[in-house]
Amino acid sequence: MKKLSIITFCSLAVAMLVSCGEDVKRTPGTVYMPDMAYSRAYETYADHSNLASAGIHYTNMPVAGTVARGEEMPYHLQNDSAGYSASNTITNPLTVWSVADSVESERMYLINCAICHGTALNGNGPLYKDGAGPYAAKPATLVGDPAIEAKGEGDYYHVQTYGKGQMGSYASQLNRKQRWMIARYIKQKQKKNGGTTATATTTDSTTAGSTMTKK
Ligand code: HEC
Repeated sequence: MKKLSIITFCSLAVAMLVSCGEDVKRTPGTVYMPDMAYSRAYETYADHSNLASAGIHYTNMPVAGTVARGEEMPYHLQNDSAGYSASNTITNPLTVWSVADSVESERMYLINCAICHGTALNGNGPLYKDGAGPYAAKPATLVGDPAIEAKGEGDYYHVQTYGKGQMGSYASQLNRKQRWMIARYIKQKQKKNGGTTATATTTDSTTAGSTMTKK
């Protein structure tokens, strides 16, 4: 009988100890180094809703007004008629142009623009098909139209940035450098074609492989 009461006492004591174990404090009272206790890094599946109340002001956007290394400077002209006409005189900031740039700009043009403007830049891509395509608006003839050829690379950049008429903006698909590259590509295609106008604003003659410098 005495043995039984000892066993009962022991098992009760163990049960109490175990249940006490669940009472472990999960939050430390004072945090000595909060950066180590609470991660500032963006953790994909974490709940970020109350970061600000914890004094952590995290945003995955770059700081306003900063320019990433290697990125082209922000474009200053606005999406209005004054900006559109001023864009014509803006020079292309790309000073170095290699064969690889030529190949890459063509690749980007074919992906983003050729569906409307055509692989031959004649304004007659598969979406338009001489007016028989599903796209009703006539895309500009980039090579062969004196009015378009008279415009500078800045104009082509502006139109890609903001869109024009029925053409939408490509600013979310192509970054600044890529848009300038395509603008250069269009100009070069016009020159290779002989150019329909003497008033083309760009004067660089780019031979494949050369490195050119433009003002
Ligand atoms: C969905 C069809 C479509 C696509 C895709 C498209 N465009 Fe256009 N684009 C148009 C149309 C339509 C116009 C004529 C707009 C107008 O003058 O109202 C135009 C006009 C232009 C012009 C003439 C600008 C001017 O000053 O008159 C340029 C340059 C141009 N596009 C470049 C591009 C480039 C570069 C791309 C690829 C990044 C592109 N477009 C993609 C439909 C398209």
